[in-house]
Parts: sequence; C-alpha cells; structure tokens
Amino acid sequence: MPYYSDDLIEEVRSANDIVDVVSDYVRLQKKGNTYLGLCPFHNEKTPSFSVSRNKQIYHCFGCGAGGNVITFLMQYDNDTFQEALETLAQRAGIELPKQEVSARAKQEADKRAQILEINKASAKYFYVQLRREQGKKGMDYFVKRGLTQDILKKFGLGYSNKYSDDLYQYLRKQGYEDNLLKDSGVVAFDEKRGGYDKFWNRVMFPIMDVNNRVIGFGGRVMGDGEPKYLNSPETMVFDKSRSLYGLNLAKSSRKTYILLCEGYMDVIALHQAGFDNAVASLGTAFTPGHANLLKRYTKEVYCTFDSDGAGIKAALRAIPILKEAGITAKIVKMAPYKDPDEFIKAEGAEAYEKRIAQAQNSFMFEIEVLEKDYDLKDPESKTAFHNAVARKILEFEEELERENYIEAVAERYHIGFENLRKLVMHQGTRIGIAREARTLKSGIQEKRKKEDGIKQSQKLMLTWLIEEPSLFEQIESYLGPEDFTDGLYRQAAEMLFSQYRAGKLNPAGIISMFADEEQQREIAGLFHARLKEITTPAEKEKALRETMIRLKENSISYRSRHLEPTDLEGLQKLVADKKNMQKFYRMEWGR
Ligand code: GTP
Ligand code: MN
Repeated sequence: MPYYSDDLIEEVRSANDIVDVVSDYVRLQKKGNTYLGLCPFHNEKTPSFSVSRNKQIYHCFGCGAGGNVITFLMQYDNDTFQEALETLAQRAGIELPKQEVSARAKQEADKRAQILEINKASAKYFYVQLRREQGKKGMDYFVKRGLTQDILKKFGLGYSNKYSDDLYQYLRKQGYEDNLLKDSGVVAFDEKRGGYDKFWNRVMFPIMDVNNRVIGFGGRVMGDGEPKYLNSPETMVFDKSRSLYGLNLAKSSRKTYILLCEGYMDVIALHQAGFDNAVASLGTAFTPGHANLLKRYTKEVYCTFDSDGAGIKAALRAIPILKEAGITAKIVKMAPYKDPDEFIKAEGAEAYEKRIAQAQNSFMFEIEVLEKDYDLKDPESKTAFHNAVARKILEFEEELERENYIEAVAERYHIGFENLRKLVMHQGTRIGIAREARTLKSGIQEKRKKEDGIKQSQKLMLTWLIEEPSLFEQIESYLGPEDFTDGLYRQAAEMLFSQYRAGKLNPAGIISMFADEEQQREIAGLFHARLKEITTPAEKEKALRETMIRLKENSISYRSRHLEPTDLEGLQKLVADKKNMQKFYRMEWGR
C-alpha cells in the first residue's frame, strides 16, 4: 500500500544517485560504465556486485540481489519501503508531506514499532528473570545442558517464571494497552481470566531478525512436558516462513557457507563450539522464503538435521527448495547421534568439522534414500531402482552435469557407466525431456546455467534496449512487449516500451512500480543481464539476431498455444507476425 504518490517516490528516488548512496555502504570501483564491489548481501571474495549510474540500478551476478536505490536500503537495512523512502528523502533534503501518510498506514507502522518494543521489553524481562533467584531452575537447566554464560548472553536467553501473568502485569505497568499486548503474541486473553502470559515456567529463546530486533520467542519446558517447545504466534513482525533463528549472528560469519539445523539448541551448541554460521528454521518446515533469505548471504548450505526419519524427510524437502533458489545443498550426517547438539557434546568440535568435510552431495543423498525403497538383492527390484535413478539423473539439464552424476552413481552402486548412460538416454527419450545443453554460437555467456534460454534471451533484449536505446528503432517493427511471455518480463517490457514512446527511458523508475521485493530484484536482473564483451559490429548483429529469433519464435509458439478460438485480432496478429518473421529470416537484418 503506497503512502506516497508515484511522482513523489520518483522525485525522491531520482534525487539520490545510486552510486553515491551505495558508496556509503560498499566500496565501489569504477569499471567501464559500472561500479563493482563486494556484494553486501552474500559472502564473496571477488566482486560480482555491480551498480550502474546510467541505469540507476544495482545487481549482483552472484546472489541475484538487485533493485534501485530504494530497494537497496530496504535490503541493506531491512527497512520497509516507507522507512527507506524517508531516509532517502532526508538525505536529499526533500520534505515528505505528512498528510500523505494515511492515518491507517501510520497506525500500522506505529503498531509494528510498538510490538517490537514490547518484544524487546519482554526479552529483557526474561533475561533478568533467568539471573535472579526465581530463575534458578532455568539457569540450572541451561548449565546442565552445557551452555556457558557467554553463550547465554550472546543469544539473550532468559526464563519465564512460574507465575502466569507476571510479564503481563509488568508490561501493563510500562503503559502498554491490552489491545496492543494482544497483538504482540506474548500475552493471551481469555474472557474469565483476562490477560495472562503466553509463556511461563519455560526457558526462553528470543528470536531475532537479521537486524537484531526481537520478533518472537521460543520457550522450552525444562525436562519432559508438552509441548516441548512453545513458539510465539505469527504477528505483524513475526513471519515464521521468512525468519531463521541465529541468522542475525551467522550473517557476519567469515565462513562462506551456512549450517542449517532443526533446533534452537542445535544452533546454540554449534555457535558455542565455534560454528558461528549455524541457523535453524523455527519449528516449521523449511520454505522458499527461508531459501530466499539465505540466498542473500550464501550460495552453499550444509543441512545438519536430526538423524531420524523426520530429519531425513526435512532434508528431502529442503534440498529442492534450496536448489530452486540457486543454493548448493550438502548433507552432514549426525548418526549415530540424534542431532548436532548431541554430536558435539559426545565427539567435540573437531569431529564435527570432519563431518562437515565429509558432507554428502545432496543428489547422492537423495539416491541413497531412494535406495531404501528397493531390494538390491532381487534382480527385478534392482532393475527398478536403476530405472528410478536414471529418471532422477534427468533432473539435470546440462549434459556435462548428467555425465558427472552418471559417473558418480555408477561407481557408488557398481553399475557399468555405459549401461547407466544408456539407461538415462532411454528414459530421457521415453519421457521426452532429454534436453541438450544449449549454448549460443555467438558466445553470449550464459552464466547462470539454470536459467532457461528463453528467459535469458528476453533478459538480454531488455538489457540491450536500455543500454542502447537506438535499438528500439531497429527492432520496433518486429518486436513488441507482447513477445515477452513471462509474466514479470512482460510487465517490465510494457513499461519500458511505453517509456520509450514517451521519450525517456527510466529503468530505476520501473523498479519502484513493483511492490514486492522479490519482483524488484528480478526486474533489476532483467535490466542488467551480463553481456559478453562484444567487439565487432558483426558479432553484435549476430548475437542480436539470434536473440531476436529465439524470442520471436518462442513468442509465436506461445501465442499459438494460448490463443482463444474467438480471438480474431490475436490470430491476425499472429499470422502477420509469422509472415514478418519470414521476411526477417531472409534479410540481412541490421544495417
Ligand atoms: P532439545 O535438544 O530437546 O532441547 O530440542 P531440539 O532443539 O533438539 O529440538 P527437536 O529436535 O526436538 O525439535 C526441533 C525444533 O522443532 C525445536 O527447536 C523447535 O523449534 C521445534 N519443536 C520441537 N518441539 C516442538 C513442539 O512441541 N512444538 C512446536 N511448536 N515446536 C517444536
Ligand atoms: Mn536436541
């Protein structure tokens, strides 16, 4: 919900040069038309974070982060759109009209801030309780579990005492009203009793966001009891599917990978043992929201889950989600121990380090789990297993990658390499998805191999158009926004073409039109595809021509497939386009 008009947003945005603003946070070096630096959103040693003064956008080729100057602050400071805009307005000396903030919006922002305050006050309260006489039970529990005073402090651990409305009374005295307390999640209400504490007689784990703000709590019973862990409900500031316990600390780790575990205690035990890169999802299954969060900080995640069935299931679930986000997953085995906490206690940090070094490739792990469904002593079942493996290998789109996995699996399961290879090919033609790895002959670099060629072509075209607006004239009669078939690409293209018609390209302005951070990041990526240094005009024509053909062919086939039988106009356009393409194939396109 925008509180400010588009014009005002655009005024603030354009008054803050992106290179200047980003330079306050990241050391940038000028390289040709762009500025390069180490990406602040993930760990890296060689710069892949690129900021363009012309386009007023940034994009990281490593982790995919991207956007305009407003997005940058939102991502960097974990600000809301409003907060980022206010900072930038102030920076540029632009006064934001107060009346533009709708009463409701303002209330919401205030409420968020107040809930954060209540959380902070509660965390402090629990913290103090733990260190008092009435918290002795909690302290004993933590000590028995081997936690040091240092680590208790680092994680802000606390204790909710045995009175069931202690915190409630405390917060009331601080002046917080019931209706606010109700939405904070630390207090519950019931008709008869009135307000009472959500947590009591539990050791308390405050949950922090990446900026160290307390967004919720986990509370554990000391000893046996149900539920073992009680977590805050979701609130205005607490979204479980986008929060990871320990990330506030892990994000500053010098290690380049993240250890993903299941439990609070695992994270804490790992940090205490020196693994300051451990995080956990909060009693919920791992989600794409979690993966997107991790993606900002790392490209490699080591799953160090419980060794039981639930842990294996959790890993099988997390692997494809991580992959989808472009993160490599590895599996660290904890057997014969239950979880990292118990492993470290029994074997120590060095042994754990060894387990990390031995971590299993996620695909090999999946195959290993798959194997359990088959009886390899029985020829029929064994054949079925080999077929299943072959089908699974087809998940890899790149031929080389497939070959490598065929080799690894063949060796591990004593199958002849050529036999397995044939089986994979056979399964591929059967299902009809064996795809050849495609690279453009003109040598356009396809850095992110996952990205499919069509999307890449659309991206390249959008980037070219922005970097060289004169191209519009050249392509206009062949290509329009309707040729961009992916939802978001299409919207971006529509806006770009209409900016061109209005006489001024403004890619950073387009980014502001999207409310969703993921979308902003993706759009920035669209406008900032990596173009190979193309030296000769002939090379360029060739690359452009290939891209154009690919884009257009895709668009024509997409539209034929999706044409409504009653859409005469669409049909006419399609026929005209096909004809037009014939002309295009024949001519020496370009100059
Ligand atoms: P301990 O070592 O026994 O303290 O626990 P753990 O950290 O090893 O946790 P466990 O493997 O039992 O569970 C993993 C995570 O799931 C916990 O850290 C909690 O976040 C969550 N969890 C466990 N039990 C419950 C429960 O009863 N309710 C809810 N909501 N979450 C739970
Ligand atoms: Mn445990």
